[in-house]
Formats: sequence, C-alpha cells, structure tokens
Amino acid sequence: MVKRKNRHGEKGLRLGIVGFGMVGRASADVVLERKDLTLAAIVRRLDSLAQPLPDVFSKVPVVSHTAQVAHMDGALLCVPAAQVFEAAHDCLQHGVPIVESSILHGEAFQIHREAIHRLAVRFDVPAIVGAGWDPGALSLLRSLFGLLVPEGELATTHRVAASLHHTAMARQVRGVKEALCTEQVAADGARQRYVYVEVEPGVDVAQLSAAIRADPLFLHDETFVFPVESIAALEQEGRGVVLERRSGLGSQGHQRLLFEARFDDAMMTARTMVAAARALPGLSPGAHALLDLPLSALWGEQAFDAERTWL
Ligand SMILES: NC(=O)c1ccc[n+]([C@@H]2O[C@H](COP(=O)([O-])OP(=O)(O)OC[C@H]3O[C@@H](n4cnc5c(N)ncnc54)[C@H](OP(=O)(O)O)[C@@H]3O)[C@@H](O)[C@H]2O)c1
Repeated sequence: MVKRKNRHGEKGLRLGIVGFGMVGRASADVVLERKDLTLAAIVRRLDSLAQPLPDVFSKVPVVSHTAQVAHMDGALLCVPAAQVFEAAHDCLQHGVPIVESSILHGEAFQIHREAIHRLAVRFDVPAIVGAGWDPGALSLLRSLFGLLVPEGELATTHRVAASLHHTAMARQVRGVKEALCTEQVAADGARQRYVYVEVEPGVDVAQLSAAIRADPLFLHDETFVFPVESIAALEQEGRGVVLERRSGLGSQGHQRLLFEARFDDAMMTARTMVAAARALPGLSPGAHALLDLPLSALWGEQAFDAERTWL
C-alpha cells in the first residue's frame, strides 16, 4: 500500500499529545514508533514547559496551547479526567478532533459523552470518547462476550500483584521452575484458583497443568494454570484482569469464555487512543464511543493487511 504524505510532507496523520504524564508519555512513544503517524506537538501546562523531555522527543515542538500548533489531525487528551472537558473545549473550538479515555463507566460515562457531544457538534468536529483500556479495549471484549453468551454472568476479577502468593505445591511439580497463585470466588460462589507457572524448557504444559489440578490442594477448586515467561516479572507487574462469562442455567449448551491479561494500563490506553485516532478522518461531527467505531477503521492504512491477518 502506498504511504500518503500530508500537506506538511510528513507521514500520515499529525497527532498532538496534551499532557505528558503516564498515558501522555506512552502515547508519544507509540506515535513515534508508528510509520503512518507524525507527532505534531506535545502540549503541556506552562509550569511544565521548562522540564526537559527524553532525547527521543528532541525534534518534537513543545507548546503550552493547542492553538500554537500549525495543524493537527487529532489531539490525544492525556490530562486528568477532571481537566478533560476543558482540554476538549480548547481543541474542538480550534477545529482539532480529539480522542480521550477518562476512567468513567455506566451513567457517568454517558453524561460525559453527552457533554463532549454537545461541544463537538457546536464546533462541527468529531471526538472519540472512552478510548483507553477500561473503558476502551476491555469494554469491546466485555461487549463481545455479552453478544456471544447473551444469558450469562460476567465475572471480572482485578488482580493486583499484591494478591499473588508463592505456592510450594505447584513448585514441586516436575517442570515448574517457579509459581504464584491467587484465589477468587466466582459469580456462582465457587472458589477458583489461578496458578501462574514459569516452566522448564521443553516441558509439556498440558501435562504439567493436569498434575497441578490433580493435587489434593487444588482438586476441589476450579483451577486455571497459566504459563508465564517470568514469575519475577509477574510480581513486578502492576495489574491483571480475568473476565469470565458462562452461559446461565437453562440457556442452550454450555458456553464459557475466559480472558486473562496482565498489562501496563498506561501503555494499553495509549495504544487504544492512538488506534482510535486513525478513525478520526472518517467520522462525522459529534462524540463517538470506541464501541461505535468499526475495528477496520482503527487500522488506518493497514486495514487491508489487518483483514488478511486477523479475519
Ligand atoms: N481508560 C483507561 O483505562 C485509562 C487508564 C489510565 C488513564 N486513563 C486516563 O488518561 C488520562 C491521563 O492519565 P495519566 O495516568 O497519564 O495521568 P497523569 O500521569 O497524572 O498525567 C496527567 C498529565 O496531565 C497534565 N495536566 C494538565 N492539567 C493538570 C492538572 N490540573 N493536574 C495534573 N496534571 C495536569 C500533566 O502533564 P504536563 O505536566 O505535561 O502538563 C500531567 O502529567 C486521564 O484522563 C485518565 O483518566 C485512562
């Protein structure tokens, strides 16, 4: 596919980052690494302008207001949720489309979306809301789980590293180098165990998992075994989540979907915001939630290859 250059002679979309905290920094890294995107500017508070940026950003203009940037196809709002509306107003009134990811759910999210929608319609510019990790990518998965298993229970367990503990039993299983375990109560009241194992090279993981599940310690609980590359790294990781959806009693067949993830939520949010920004050029004025966007739009110029790879 031919790479288009924009009117500045640069790669694809020109994106600005507003706020250089955890998500802002991660988003800037993601934009720099993508061949179809240009980092147009980093917009910071006046007080932060003097703070030096890492060398990789030495060629990126750093300004205190979006109006100072010559042209932006979109701005990623990475400021605290309480400041997002004001930042959105600043961008939208200058005709700059926005992507934001404030951590708001349910009714609070809908009120926020409506407020941004009114602004975006007034200034005739598109906006994408709730495009982070959660809300965002995880909402897409939850929604898909709901579609596939309509009558069921969704159990969400947030795991923080602190809830993990070492398990001597699993460590004794042949082929296990190191293991961590956590317990939870499922939606139906049953106790479940999640065992993370670092295994010796060449070990049959299915056999090893069966051996752990068959141990008297785990036999009476539903036990899931997840191989990981490094238990030490897992202990350092901030967060994890397990989504589980099971079909309810009386529904047809027994469906069960399980999603387990460990992640850096700032990086996951940054990747989602950047992907969402690719959809901006095709959107009508107003606020669009991540769930409203076709997935192919998030791939931008790579949509054709993505279809071949993922369909
Ligand atoms: N959906 C998700 O899963 C998810 C996950 C994490 C975060 N988020 C959202 O992402 C946004 C950024 O979160 P973050 O974790 O990156 O926050 P953060 O580390 O606190 O960074 C926020 C940045 O915003 C700028 N800022 C502007 N006005 C500010 C003010 N009044 N007080 C403090 N900082 C101000 C600062 O950058 P400068 O110094 O450069 O001006 C600050 O570093 C938030 O809206 C948050 O809700 C979403």
